[in-house]
Amino acid sequence: MSKPIREYRFQFGLFASQVLIQEALPEFEELRRLLFPDPPHPPLCFVCDAHTEALARRIRGNQASPCCVLPPGEEAKTWASVERILKTALDAGLGRDAFFVAVGGGVVSDLTAFAASVYMRGGRLCLIPTTLLGMADAALGGKTGIDLFGIKNLAGTFYPASLICLSLESLASLPKGEWKSGMAELIKAAILEEDGTLFARMRALKDGMARGSVFDGGGGLLEALARAVEIKGRIVEADPRETGSQRALLNLGHTFGHALEASAGLGRVSHGEAVAWGMVRAGALGRALGITPADRERAVRELILAYGYETRSPHPLMGDKKGFMRALGGDKKKKDGKAVFVVPAERGARLIALDLRDPRAQSLW
Ligand SMILES: NC(=O)c1ccc[n+]([C@@H]2O[C@H](COP(=O)([O-])OP(=O)(O)OC[C@H]3O[C@@H](n4cnc5c(N)ncnc54)[C@H](O)[C@@H]3O)[C@@H](O)[C@H]2O)c1
Repeated sequence: MSKPIREYRFQFGLFASQVLIQEALPEFEELRRLLFPDPPHPPLCFVCDAHTEALARRIRGNQASPCCVLPPGEEAKTWASVERILKTALDAGLGRDAFFVAVGGGVVSDLTAFAASVYMRGGRLCLIPTTLLGMADAALGGKTGIDLFGIKNLAGTFYPASLICLSLESLASLPKGEWKSGMAELIKAAILEEDGTLFARMRALKDGMARGSVFDGGGGLLEALARAVEIKGRIVEADPRETGSQRALLNLGHTFGHALEASAGLGRVSHGEAVAWGMVRAGALGRALGITPADRERAVRELILAYGYETRSPHPLMGDKKGFMRALGGDKKKKDGKAVFVVPAERGARLIALDLRDPRAQSLW
């Protein structure tokens, strides 16, 4: 395994998570040494999907560790997949010392973490995210979940991984659309950041990408990812179970984004596209409420536009206004009957609760 380029340690309540950012994928023996510095080495149970199986195979080498290969995509985020993971571990004779290793995007990491959290009342967990979204967001912070009754992440647990390995090499095979999803999360972290370093870096990274591949950016992507990890990690440390107001800041763009996804019809607008559009709407709302200064709103919109996202309102794929408002009001994020939004502030962002009948909300779309 290459030497980590960055290393972070976070404490999420009772759980400690170590994050390593490196160029290459970890090799089996190195991974095992990281997980268990001293023998005996409990068995590892790998989980991947059909698109990340080759990456998992490279890590496993010729080791005979069990591996559960799931179908790819959100449709696989089901009880049945959790059962398949649990059955793989059981069939391999793994006990309470089982160590689950997820190699994949947010779907594989959410599923594996969920399964690990319930296997014999709690196995151990390592996540190796292979999408930009997984690296910038899903793998860190302990939220696990499956979709049930048509509702995303209806069932889940909090179960942070003890080790998270981000390897830039694994992004080489990522399809273009998946890059766009992940970039939205990096932009979100940049808006949440108080000092503006990542915001400036995201602008520079975009210029670098316009000239060539994202990997040519002189370490720009790596630095951006590292900063995004740090920002999310510190927010979750302050509010690991989202009982306060800190962790909810990570929902920036999501209230509008989920309403867009629902009103457009699920699957018509990608999650990244919806969140990016939602962040622009959040800027407009913040400005109408006197929280987001005009130049900050413009800077947010221009950055999102520069990455090729739709910024116009109404979004061309949005359903009718009534359906959108219904979806906005029906979002999970509610407080005292009001919809909760995160809006960009002069520095960082702020949480607000708003009655959707408020004319300042009505005038925005
Ligand atoms: N737990 C959290 O805090 C959190 C945060 C954000 C999102 N999520 C969850 O993450 C999921 C979305 O994650 P995602 O965008 O990574 O989707 P995903 O896991 O479905 O991956 C997207 C696609 O890319 C493929 N893929 C993954 N890595 C690849 C690689 N290196 N090369 C080629 N193909 C690859 C996958 O097989 C899949 O087809 C959602 O279910 C969402 O709820 C969780």
